Amino acid sequence: MTRKLFRNASITTPYDPGAPLAGERQGEVQHFKHGALYCKDGVIQALGEGEEVLGALPPGGVDIEIDCGGLPLIPGFVDPHTHMCFAKTREEEFTLRMEGMDYLEILQRGGGILSSVRAVRATSEDELFSTTLEHAISAHRFGTTTLEIKSGYGLETEAELKMLRVIDRIGRETPLDVVPTFLGAHAVPEEYTEAPEDYVDLLIHEMMPAVSKQGIARFCDVFCERNVFTVDQSRRILQAAKEAGLGLKIHADEVYDLGGARLAAALQATSAEHLLAASEGNLRALAKRNVIGVLLPGTAYSLRKAYVPARKMVEFGVPIAIATDCNPGSCYTESMPFVFGLAVLNMNLSVPEALVAATLNAAYAIGMAKQVGSLEVGKSADFLLLDGENPAVLAYHAGVSSVVEVYKRGEFVSSP
Ligand code: NIG
Ligand code: FE
Repeated sequence: MTRKLFRNASITTPYDPGAPLAGERQGEVQHFKHGALYCKDGVIQALGEGEEVLGALPPGGVDIEIDCGGLPLIPGFVDPHTHMCFAKTREEEFTLRMEGMDYLEILQRGGGILSSVRAVRATSEDELFSTTLEHAISAHRFGTTTLEIKSGYGLETEAELKMLRVIDRIGRETPLDVVPTFLGAHAVPEEYTEAPEDYVDLLIHEMMPAVSKQGIARFCDVFCERNVFTVDQSRRILQAAKEAGLGLKIHADEVYDLGGARLAAALQATSAEHLLAASEGNLRALAKRNVIGVLLPGTAYSLRKAYVPARKMVEFGVPIAIATDCNPGSCYTESMPFVFGLAVLNMNLSVPEALVAATLNAAYAIGMAKQVGSLEVGKSADFLLLDGENPAVLAYHAGVSSVVEVYKRGEFVSSP
């Protein structure tokens, strides 16, 4: 048993009321100016103003004491949407996109996601693990302590199962908590271009049962988009996922407003993600059903598209989370500080709103809020020390990471 006291820290954290924070509460955080955090075997036992925490400690109750030097201390980032399990980057495609070629057009010509599918199918499980591990470690250095990773570059039963095994192994062989999501409906694979309905059948009748039997995936996601999966196909796939006991997520209205957000609301999905093109009506539908809007400002940035009207979403009462979307196509970054900066500067969230979006609401978006997402008694001692006066430095000090120390379950992880 190890009991640790972290003192002399300027602590800012959301407080978990048992549901994601939305509307006026989106930016609700607590602050302890001369704060302390006391944990036992990586689980928080006490947190608050230093004097109070110290005064309540049992005599001889501290094995290790750490002075945080007055630095800002916040919960570790939760990244609730990544595709970081891939085999190869796609610089050539990026260059074409920067010259004006459209993202979905590249996919239609057999590039984009489909080129990543060819690479993943041709890569051994161990090699795929090594490339994924590099991204996971990079994310960890930037302050991510819990994350979701999607499959979706296999698009055939065995290759999808291989991806899910790799994703699961990242969680077992690193300090990170990893939530695996099955995204067999990421694109229609080339061998089914002429018969997309047959692929939907395969997904429902062969892949979903195999994924469920494997028992690794916790969520199922669908890329509901023009020329990818229709709203009706997405509904059928997600209904099968629900029956298989998986939580539901949708890549909704990323490029065109097909009504993916409305479907997320109708199915009471945990989250609707992207939403760059979602209409006001569809955003309001999310608020009604308390579906979390997972926003990916790095993707708008990398696709050179308009950002999600996040202020409107706050006004409508949609709980907002932010994520990197880390993938080799539409947004190649593992950095939560980078998307935090974009969320504040380009989506007009306040710093506390972005902090809640990157921690507590993100934890809710992947079913991890009981364990992580805020610093409070009973949750994991996952936290970051920042180089600045307060968490605003994350957005204010642009283009660098202000995360100087990362702790997972009370253990020091890395100095970037
Ligand atoms: O979230 N939109 C679909 N999937 C990813 C991109 C994947 C890729 O291009 O490899 C996204 O944007
Ligand atoms: Fe995505």
